[in-house]
Amino acid sequence: MIKVRDIVFGRLQSPDLDLAEEFLTDFGMIRVERTADRLYMRGTDPEPFIHVTHLGEPRFIGLAFNARSEEDLRTVAASEGASDIEDLDEPGGGKRVRLTDPHGYQVEVVWGRKPVDPVDVSRFAVNTGAEKDLRAGELTRIGAGPSHVKRLGHAVIMTTDLRGGTNWYRENLGLVSSDEVYVEGDPNKVIATFNRVDAGPEYVDHHTFLCVDGDKVGLNHLAFEVQDIDDVFMGHAHLHSREKYDHIWGTGRHVLGSQVFDYWLDPWDRVHEHWTDSDRLNDRNPPNLVPAEEGFQSQWGEAVPERFIGHATP
Ligand SMILES: [Fe+2]
Repeated sequence: MIKVRDIVFGRLQSPDLDLAEEFLTDFGMIRVERTADRLYMRGTDPEPFIHVTHLGEPRFIGLAFNARSEEDLRTVAASEGASDIEDLDEPGGGKRVRLTDPHGYQVEVVWGRKPVDPVDVSRFAVNTGAEKDLRAGELTRIGAGPSHVKRLGHAVIMTTDLRGGTNWYRENLGLVSSDEVYVEGDPNKVIATFNRVDAGPEYVDHHTFLCVDGDKVGLNHLAFEVQDIDDVFMGHAHLHSREKYDHIWGTGRHVLGSQVFDYWLDPWDRVHEHWTDSDRLNDRNPPNLVPAEEGFQSQWGEAVPERFIGHATP
C-alpha cells in the first residue's frame, strides 16, 4: 500500500464554463487555462492547478492525490482495477494512474507535475490582546475583494456504505483515522470518518478526506485553504456582495480540525469551502471516537444547518 503525500485537485463537470469561471474567480482562484471543454484553476501555492471543470451535465468526476515517488505510482498501477501509468496532458504535465472508488468516482494518483511559481500575497502581522505591538508603527491596509485560495485541502463524500467507502480510501491511499463520529449513545454507529494523510512524524492537516453516512452517494464539499482568517471573512464579504451566490454555512470554527470556515454553493449546488488554521497532527496523535453532538458543533458560529448535513451532489 502506498501513502499519498496530499490531496491535490478535484474534477467537476458543469454545463457552462463562463459561469463556472465567474464563480471560481469570485471564490478566489486564478485561471490557468481554458479550452473549448475544460477550465483549469490554480491557487497561490505551486500546484499547477487545483480545480478542473469539464464541460457537460453537472456531476462530480473525482479527486486526485499526489504520490510520494514514481515507484509509488508503479505500485498503484499494479493494483487491482487500476489503469496503466498515463501521461497527463494538462497544465503541469506529469503522470497519473486512475482508480475507481466504490461509489464509481475517479481517483487519480499523480506524480511529476511541474510546479508553478507561487503567487505572493502580502500580509501584515496581527496584534492580539496579549501582544499589542506585533505591528507597532505600521498601518494595516488590505484591499477588499475575493479571498486568496492557496490549495485544495480536503474533500467529503457522502456514502451509503461508510465503512466500505472509508476502508477503500485508507487501503488504497494510505490514509489514517483522525476522528470517527458516532450517534450519541451508540459508539458502534459511526456516521462520519475524518481521515488524514500518513506522513509519520511530519505534521499534516487534521483531515484530507472524509466519508459521511447518508441516504445517497455524492460530493458533500470540496474545501480550499486560504491565507488566514482575514481571507475567510474577506471571501465571505466578497461573495455576499455579488448578490448571486447561495451561502450554506458559516462563518464559524469547527470542533474537529478547528478550522475557521465558510461554505458557499457554486451555480450547480456544489459546496466549496474556505478554511484556514487547521489542527496539525502526526503519528503520535491516536484516532478518537467522538459523539456527533460534540463533533459536529462549532466552537463558535452558527450550528450546522440540516441543509448542509444532508447535502450531496452526484
Ligand atoms: Fe470541510
